[in-house]
Amino acid sequence: MAKSRDTMFFCKECGYESAKWLGQCPGCKEWNSFVEEPVGNKKSPTGISINRGTNKPVGLADISLQDEERISTGIDELDRVLGGGIVEGGLVLVGGDPGIGKSTLLLQMCRNIVNKIKKKVLYISGEESLKQVKLRAQRIGDIDSTFLLLCETNLDNIKEIVSEVKPDVIVIDSIQTMVCDNVTSSAGSVSQVRESTNILMQMAKGYGISVFIVGHVTKEGVVAGPRVLEHMVDTVLYFEGDRHASYRILRGVKNRFGSTNEIGVFEMQNDGLREVENPSEYMLKGRPVDASGTVTSCSVEGTRPILLEIQSLLCKTNFGIPRRTTVGTDYNRVNLILAVLEKKAGLKLYEYDVYTNIAGGLRITEPALDLGIAVSIISGYRDEIIGSDVVAFGEIGLSGEVRAVSMAMQRVQEAAKLGFKKCIIPFASMEEIKKVKDIEVVGVNNIQDVIREIKTL
Ligand code: TYD
Ligand code: MG
Repeated sequence: MAKSRDTMFFCKECGYESAKWLGQCPGCKEWNSFVEEPVGNKKSPTGISINRGTNKPVGLADISLQDEERISTGIDELDRVLGGGIVEGGLVLVGGDPGIGKSTLLLQMCRNIVNKIKKKVLYISGEESLKQVKLRAQRIGDIDSTFLLLCETNLDNIKEIVSEVKPDVIVIDSIQTMVCDNVTSSAGSVSQVRESTNILMQMAKGYGISVFIVGHVTKEGVVAGPRVLEHMVDTVLYFEGDRHASYRILRGVKNRFGSTNEIGVFEMQNDGLREVENPSEYMLKGRPVDASGTVTSCSVEGTRPILLEIQSLLCKTNFGIPRRTTVGTDYNRVNLILAVLEKKAGLKLYEYDVYTNIAGGLRITEPALDLGIAVSIISGYRDEIIGSDVVAFGEIGLSGEVRAVSMAMQRVQEAAKLGFKKCIIPFASMEEIKKVKDIEVVGVNNIQDVIREIKTL
């Protein structure tokens, strides 16, 4: 007969469960990620089984979509990432490093919902005292007195309170502090986090409450990474950015109610987060004029073109093997572009250490930046200045061809809007370009065309 177990091993990264300790997780292939946790009563929580017994299969045609109404958060950037606002009964996970501004963003959202839309919002904090939350609330501005605040970490208590209060929106800050009675392991462990999310999911779906869950991501976490819950929730947003820079980017990585890959850009200020309406302008601030090795390129995030500055610095190699360092771009893509430039354009890049950087601290892996990276490297190599009114974008293939990219017209329009005078784009994208005022658009077929074009600048 199988022996009943007191403890099980869980993968910290993906939640894989095993009776034995394993060096590598069979689920996510992460090494050394197993932790032992007690598994008391294995009965899963019953939660709020409002619909139990009344659920029947329905035809697709009979499902009405009319009541899928979205609540605006009053923060355009957040609405955009959510796919147009908060969905009733939606479960949203907001992940990010500690101190990045998750609590601030959600508190600002609560303020807007309470003040403007007059919905009932319950903010449950397991990390900060009521006073601390109030202090923060004062920093970001007045909140109506109907805003409800609760300091509680026990989900069974929370469940009762929620069934009494019936709020429209709940914020749980953070999931790592929540515990439920029928799981014996400590708060923040994989099994606690998973069960807690389960209960919150039942609350959200059962009562039609929109639930926001804050989750900390730690690199070598003792705390369970929220990746365990990514598959349970409807929407996953990541709040990222350099803690030393003031801007923050909210990125949608999963969204059952809208498109992913949308981003929202914010700036942290003394009175909370401010939306950055024009990220291009923001990213190009402080750009050097008349410097070699720098060029402006255009990336599309979701539906939004963002102009950014790509910088390359080339220094003579002192040792045998040249060094390549990339910040903000994909390391392998830069290597690939270097190889293409070497082979197809005859640049002796093996003599140089190459450093590339996307100014402003953005991280972008879109292939459309290839041409910008190539141009900045050529400019750095030849020490030739590319005009500060030039934008270059396009994907580079291994035979040196410049390939079409999506949304070329929007990119050109964004460049024109910010006063750029010339766009170097893939020739294959030229047909979708209509005449835009005050900007010259040049199509290039391959890397040789690019070099010829740069000479005329
Ligand atoms: P916080 O929302 O507490 O981060 P998280 O919940 O993700 O851990 O915000 C953390 C930082 O933001 C903190 O270091 C202080 C700073 N901050 C401001 O600069 N201005 C503000 O108005 C507020 C509320 C916070
Ligand atoms: Mg916080």
